[in-house]
Amino acid sequence: MKPYVIINAAMSADGKISTPLRKQTKISGADDFTRVDALRAESDAVLVGIGTVKTDDPSLRLKSEELADARVKAGKPAHPMRVVVDSHAEMPLDSDMFKKGLGEVVIVVSRAAPEEKIAALSEKTTVIKAGDTRVDLSEMLEMLGEMGVKQLMVEGGSTILWSFMSQRLFDEIRIYVGALIIGGKTSPTFADGEGFTEVDEFPRLTLKSAEKIDDGILLTWMKKE
Ligand SMILES: NC(=O)c1ccc[n+]([C@@H]2O[C@H](COP(=O)([O-])OP(=O)(O)OC[C@H]3O[C@@H](n4cnc5c(N)ncnc54)[C@H](OP(=O)(O)O)[C@@H]3O)[C@@H](O)[C@H]2O)c1
Repeated sequence: MKPYVIINAAMSADGKISTPLRKQTKISGADDFTRVDALRAESDAVLVGIGTVKTDDPSLRLKSEELADARVKAGKPAHPMRVVVDSHAEMPLDSDMFKKGLGEVVIVVSRAAPEEKIAALSEKTTVIKAGDTRVDLSEMLEMLGEMGVKQLMVEGGSTILWSFMSQRLFDEIRIYVGALIIGGKTSPTFADGEGFTEVDEFPRLTLKSAEKIDDGILLTWMKKE
């Protein structure tokens, strides 16, 4: 069974998730970081695209030891699994994910990924294949479900978010809107990709809540079937 998918990201008031240089940018504050850590802790896995690994090199680690302890008491691994969507097995072998944080790292590649790169990554961690030339997210979700992932948190970036949203492979969207403007027509937005042109193609949402956190707002949307 596919996991319950929660998309979580932070964007500026003008909808950008990073600068034109695509470098990791602080958009929210301390209270929102605590919320994100708690969402990571309640998820079985957290996921990013290879683009985010190349620009931000995130460890995706759980920061709170209390939350890790609570997971253990609940019979779960102390840290959620960390998943990278990487069609061509380009995950750098010296990524922070391999150095920091304790959750299992799973690299999802396509069946076209070079075997020597898969072999090198497999020496470090778990590699699974989904999709012929690009990672097939639907197939990947089925595989993650079989691996025991019941709740998946998708953290970005904009290309992966577009794929999940345009293929309607999500249940909830939690988007933090920060009190700043980034601008720039090449800055990544909450959803890049090719975009829809027809009104009846737009995925529709229902607003569940709007909550002020730090000096911004957290919007929680549910997918409308
Ligand atoms: N503010 C936030 O909350 C937040 C969070 C995360 C990231 N970011 C920002 O987002 C930016 C990175 O975004 P990005 O769009 O460049 O990269 P991305 O979405 O992290 O990764 C995109 C890459 O994933 C791979 N991929 C494999 N299968 C895919 C599929 N089915 N659909 C879509 N992509 C697939 C593709 O490369 P291959 O074909 O080579 O596999 C694609 O180029 C950075 O600036 C980062 O700072 C912001």
